[in-house]
Amino acid sequence: MEENSLDMKQKLLDKIASKEIVVGVVGMGYVGLPLAVEKAKAGFKTIGFDVQTEKVRFVNEGHNYIGDVVDQDLKQLVEAGTLSATADFSFIKEVDFVAICVPTPLDQHQQPDISYVRDSSREIAKYLKKESMVVLESTTYPGTTEELVKTILEEGSGLICGRDFYLGFSPERVDPGNLIYKTKNTPKVVGAIGAEATEVIAAMYRAVLDGDVYEVSSPAVAEMEKILENTYRNINIGLVNELSMLCNRMGISVWEVIDAAKTKPYGFQAFYPGPGLGGHCIPLDPYYLSWKAREYGFHTSMIESSMMINDKMPEYCVERAGRLLNHQEKPLKNSKILVLGVAYKQDIDDYRESPALRVIEELEKEEAKVDYYDPFVVQYKAKGRIVKGLLELSPDIVREYDLVIITTAHTNVDYEMVQANAKAIFDTKNVMKKIEMRENIEVL
Ligand SMILES: NC(=O)c1ccc[n+]([C@@H]2O[C@H](COP(=O)([O-])OP(=O)(O)OC[C@H]3O[C@@H](n4cnc5c(N)ncnc54)[C@H](O)[C@@H]3O)[C@@H](O)[C@H]2O)c1
Repeated sequence: MEENSLDMKQKLLDKIASKEIVVGVVGMGYVGLPLAVEKAKAGFKTIGFDVQTEKVRFVNEGHNYIGDVVDQDLKQLVEAGTLSATADFSFIKEVDFVAICVPTPLDQHQQPDISYVRDSSREIAKYLKKESMVVLESTTYPGTTEELVKTILEEGSGLICGRDFYLGFSPERVDPGNLIYKTKNTPKVVGAIGAEATEVIAAMYRAVLDGDVYEVSSPAVAEMEKILENTYRNINIGLVNELSMLCNRMGISVWEVIDAAKTKPYGFQAFYPGPGLGGHCIPLDPYYLSWKAREYGFHTSMIESSMMINDKMPEYCVERAGRLLNHQEKPLKNSKILVLGVAYKQDIDDYRESPALRVIEELEKEEAKVDYYDPFVVQYKAKGRIVKGLLELSPDIVREYDLVIITTAHTNVDYEMVQANAKAIFDTKNVMKKIEMRENIEVL
């Protein structure tokens, strides 16, 4: 059969099988870089696109900046010419498969800021070629792929979705710092516009990943299932956070309660309280759904309730810390407080939306003198200022403070040493569980 008589689906399937597909990954952050590395490792020539020229330079120098990527992998792929990066979107005309992995934050009114998806789609549209695939991976409200991305791509390129290119949504599930599940072995959900598009895009992921690829009937189903995953976590964390406040009043350890509950082998999954929600996903994604729901005259009341509880946890922690100081006849004002951990979860360097930053802000409002130590985050930027952390933690340093607040349970911090030397500790992560308790230690 003549090549030009083959339909788009077959041509793309053949190109996938023969590894002739050139991959473009737009947005080379926590999601995009590991994805680009896996595509390249699977033998597909891969080009990363980013507006941050520093990231482009890092990639082209083989310099890794994401914890979940193996330094050597990146270096080898760049040296072999299989992986490169650029800020020049005209290279989109060379790619057959584009994955969009740009941020989806909230604006100052806690509403979806979809501008990164819109801007990157506009750039892609200018250079989109016939017989290609575009997949949105950024977490977003149901309807984004069909209502927004499809319209931009069709208007900007003059091409028709389904006839000239395939478009779909495949949510990213990367869990930074997870030692078992990485991009390569985490099951992936794919929902595209049309059965043929779903088949081809799923085939592309199957050619790269070891995890199952699960096909759903539309992008909206895939968009909604991703929001369900994160809303499920958000609401269950809200539940245990509320329970932790009640347990404290009742003189019951919420941690012991959860440990007991999780002995049930079915129907219960353990979630743990903490100083609030952090990261780029769990605190933000449910807002994407509640915002969209209002278009349908619908109020997502469970999301709103858990948001209220989770949002007030940093203030609650400061209130508890204040009480602990009060027991030592010290006010928060002018007390020296050491915050242990500003990353939003253990053993990673990401502090986006970290509740520890809210705890620090609340303490500073009370005019406490706050320092922090985090072996993964030597400095952070918040509200336009750069805050530098302590570079080491020693018995002498710990003894200088009136109170230590543990906000992140990093595994490479010597909590026994902290306990032996701190005047008082408020432990929001229950890291002291294996350590003998003293009167001046309180757990959330
Ligand atoms: N980080 C996670 O753990 C995680 C997990 C699952 C899903 N997600 C979702 O994946 C998406 C990306 O998250 P992330 O953590 O990788 O974000 P990130 O901020 O680490 O990376 C996004 C990258 O996109 C780049 N970018 C912004 N606008 C661009 C444009 N117009 N063109 C090209 N590049 C552009 C940024 O410079 C940045 O490098 C978000 O929707 C997020 O909700 C993230």
